Parts: sequence; C-alpha cells; structure tokens
Amino acid sequence: MGSVKVQGLVKRYGEVLAVAGVDMDVKDKEFVVLLGPSGSGKTSTLRCVAGLEGVSGGKVFIDDREVTYLPPADRDIAFVFQSYALYPHLSVYENLAFPLKAVRAPKTDIEERVNQAAETLRITRLLARKPTQLSGGEQQRVALGRAIVRRPKAFLMDEPLTNLDAQLRTIMRAELKRLQTDLGATTLYVTHDQLEAMSMGDQIVVFNEGKIQQTGSPMEVYNTPANLFVASFIGSPPMNFIKGSLSENRSSLQLEASLSLPLPFSNAILQALEPGGNYIFGARPEDVHLSDEPTERSLRAEVYVVEPLGAENIVNLKLGEQIVKVRTSPTFVPPIGQQLWASFDPDRSHLFDPKSEEALR
Ligand SMILES: Nc1ncnc2c1ncn2[C@@H]1O[C@H](COP(=O)(O)OP(=O)(O)OP(=O)(O)O)[C@@H](O)[C@H]1O
Ligand SMILES: [Mg+2]
Repeated sequence: MGSVKVQGLVKRYGEVLAVAGVDMDVKDKEFVVLLGPSGSGKTSTLRCVAGLEGVSGGKVFIDDREVTYLPPADRDIAFVFQSYALYPHLSVYENLAFPLKAVRAPKTDIEERVNQAAETLRITRLLARKPTQLSGGEQQRVALGRAIVRRPKAFLMDEPLTNLDAQLRTIMRAELKRLQTDLGATTLYVTHDQLEAMSMGDQIVVFNEGKIQQTGSPMEVYNTPANLFVASFIGSPPMNFIKGSLSENRSSLQLEASLSLPLPFSNAILQALEPGGNYIFGARPEDVHLSDEPTERSLRAEVYVVEPLGAENIVNLKLGEQIVKVRTSPTFVPPIGQQLWASFDPDRSHLFDPKSEEALR
C-alpha cells in the first residue's frame, strides 16, 4: 500500500472555486475520512487525487512520487463510486476479473486474485450471477472487490454506502472498516454522514466551503472542535450553544432578561476575555448535569419537553428563551414545567468568539 499527500490543492470550475487550498497527509494503511456538507469540495478533492479532474493549483503525491499531471491509470489507485458502475452484461466473476484483464495479468493470477477477493468479501457463491440478480449490499461488495483485486496503492471511495438502506449501511460500515484493517489498505473516504466518519476514520478531515476546518482523530474533532462549524457539524443531537455578554468580573455570561450563566473556566482563560464582549458558550448534551437542588455554578431551568429515544432520553430545557438539550438515562422522565438546576462539565465546556467563530477553549 502507500501514502497520499496533497499540497495546496485548488480546483476551479470556471467561476466556481470548489477547492480553495487544501493540504492533506494520508499515511500508509490509514483510513482518512473527508467529511463535510453538500458542495464543500469533497468529491472534487478526491477526483483531483484520482486524476479524474485536472487541478487548478497545487500538487498530488502518491508514495512520495508527484503524480499531479499523470493520467489516472498511471497513479495505481482504485476508485469506488456511490453508484457501483458494475458491467450489467458480465457475471460477478467477470466484473471482478475485468481490471486484471485490462492490464493483461496472467490467467492463473486472475483466478487466484478474484477467488481471494470473493472470499474476503464473502461473495464466492455469487460469482456466476449477473449484477441485476444481486441485492444493493451484494452489488456494493462486488464494486469493492473490483477495487481490491488490483491491489492498488490506495483506495478512494466517494459515499460508497449512500445507496444502501439504513440497516445495511450500518452493517457495511463495520464490514468496510474491518476489511480496510485486514487489507492494511490506505483509504480516502468521502461522506457527509458524521456518524460514518466518526465510526470509520482514523483521521477525519472536516471540509466547509472548499477549505479544511479541522483535521484530527474522531475524538479530537468531537472533544476539541476548532471552531463553531466543526462543533455544530459533529455530534447528534448537536452541541448546545448559548449566547451572552461577559459580566464585568468575567465570571459569567449574561443571557437575556436577568439570567446569568456562571462560566466553568479557569482564571487563565477568563482573564483573556473582554468584559462586556459577546461570546458563545458550548456544551454537548451529555455534558450538562441536572439536579433538583442548586449546585456550584448551576442555573435554574424549566423542563420544556422530554424526547425518549429508547437507550436514552433527550431532556429539552428552557433557559430563558433558549432551549438546551440534555442527554439523560431512559429512566429519567421529569414532567413538563418542572424546575431543575443545570450545570456544565467544566472540563468539557467550550467557548467561541462569535466574530471569528474560532474556539477560545
Ligand atoms: N463539473 C462541475 N462544474 C461546475 N461546478 C462544479 C462541478 N463539480 C462540482 N462543482 C461545484 O463545486 C463545488 C464542490 O462540489 P463537490 O462535488 O466537490 O462537493 P461535495 O462536497 O462532494 O458535495 P456532495 O456532498 O453534495 O457530493 C460545488 O459548489 C459544486 O456545485
Ligand atoms: Mg460529492
């Protein structure tokens, strides 16, 4: 397998700036997920790495060899698309053999590699069938098989699970992760599904508007988001954001009316803030704690509604005019209108600058 490096990648389509200077470093055997909303430049980045699109600027390296201007066939990588693009008139066996025949591999080699790939993907019993006689998940496996047989330096995958139903998606998610680990296959994987990114990636590259917002392990982007975009894009239900202005003594945020939120941050952090300035406090639903009695740095809130989700409940609190979602155990079902005291985990609370949108902690 191999590494993939992208330096200062720019991609324009006429007036449209799709990729605005992207740097990425995918190490050998690593599974890197490009995550971002629709139109953020994920597919464009992947297609430039594959050579399916010419770049408008920047460089692409595979195994430290510059390939920026090489045709796709000379880059030694395999692409798996959202649509499986299988040949309908060929059997599964012939579909798998196709890329090997194209490079005139010896017949015995082809047989061995196709059978091995079929075994890995557990589709041996389907080898004689045509693609139309397969379920969506089976077609997906064949598409993966066609990428595997070539033993390329890297796999590039663009939303390969999108056409599967929700249940099959979760199964294939785990299967694909396991397959990638077993093969030690360097993989660049595009998705706009944050759960897919969190569960599969060694590294997540978060895209927005053609730019990288943050690169890190799933836990890094979840626990220490670099800005408001990353904080709001990853996590479900999303992080709670509470806007307010900093009190004169820097200890709390004044929300609307007479409500004030005591800030659970160290003095070192508070001293760097500007009294009277506007800030956005952030806390994930699992980092809000509820109690019947006032506790240190808690504030009073009213139960607005409870959403039971089976394994957990989401308690919606009304904090002045704002709603705060709190993840609780499924046995906790406070009645609507009940007064509770909410406090925020000091080690897991965030603060953002509303102007720059950057995380201040
Ligand atoms: N062939 C093209 N011609 C013109 N503009 C394009 C072309 N392909 C993509 N774009 C534009 O470039 C931007 C990035 O598109 P891209 O397909 O890379 O996004 P994406 O992150 O893959 O989105 P999605 O999640 O919807 O697939 C978008 O604004 C899109 O409209
Ligand atoms: Mg796309």
